[in-house]
Amino acid sequence: MEKASKRRRVTIAIDGPSGAGKSTVAKSLAKRLGYLYIDTGAMYRSVALKAKEKGILSEDKLAIGQLASSLPITFITDGEHTRVLCDGEDVSEAIRTPEISRLASAISKQKELREILVQRQREMGKEGGIILEGRDIGTTVFPDAEVKFYLDAGGEERVKRRYREMRQKGFEVDLETTRKELMERDDHDMHRDHSPLKRAEDAIFIDSTHRSVKEVVEEMVRMVRAKVKK
Ligand code: DC
Repeated sequence: MEKASKRRRVTIAIDGPSGAGKSTVAKSLAKRLGYLYIDTGAMYRSVALKAKEKGILSEDKLAIGQLASSLPITFITDGEHTRVLCDGEDVSEAIRTPEISRLASAISKQKELREILVQRQREMGKEGGIILEGRDIGTTVFPDAEVKFYLDAGGEERVKRRYREMRQKGFEVDLETTRKELMERDDHDMHRDHSPLKRAEDAIFIDSTHRSVKEVVEEMVRMVRAKVKK
């Protein structure tokens, strides 16, 4: 972690498609800078999980919106790992299943839900010293963020990363299904009516296809320092 410097503690936005490496680099960058890290996708996933548990249909916008405004979601970190607590329960693993990935992507097109979660994310980030990672951070949640990154990687590389990640977690997925699901999810996320995934005009584009996490994070640290001189 960086020594408690006198640098201004700003807001950093990281957006990009699934499998681009956002969570991994965001966590590492947060550790280097001593910033708080918010995985906004985990918030959409938590709402999807609780809706499923409560038997709320994904099309029931009103009930999903009510759930999103009242559901306690907190992030706790020991500097290495971040856990997601939802209603006091650790849901870090439960929100990563293929089923919840599909459900989260499906409900994330709802305007009502997005407005509520965006409001909650703005509240969490209002003090600065924070890295938010998602799809609409640089365009909608914090359009005035001091530093914005758009992280991407080649399609096949993202599929392979997601496949390895799911196998490591013990899911019996095959490469073809992983490819199909990732492409479908990207398609949803990029073409929905409300805050679709897109690169903010002032976001720094980083292609992580042939680069290690360490290299990407080093580049990001340099860019943050160049932008935040005082
Ligand atoms: O980043 P992720 O795969 O955990 O996100 C899960 C889903 O939530 C993803 O399909 C799109 C949606 N999402 C979103 O619409 N806006 C965000 N800021 C973050 C995630």
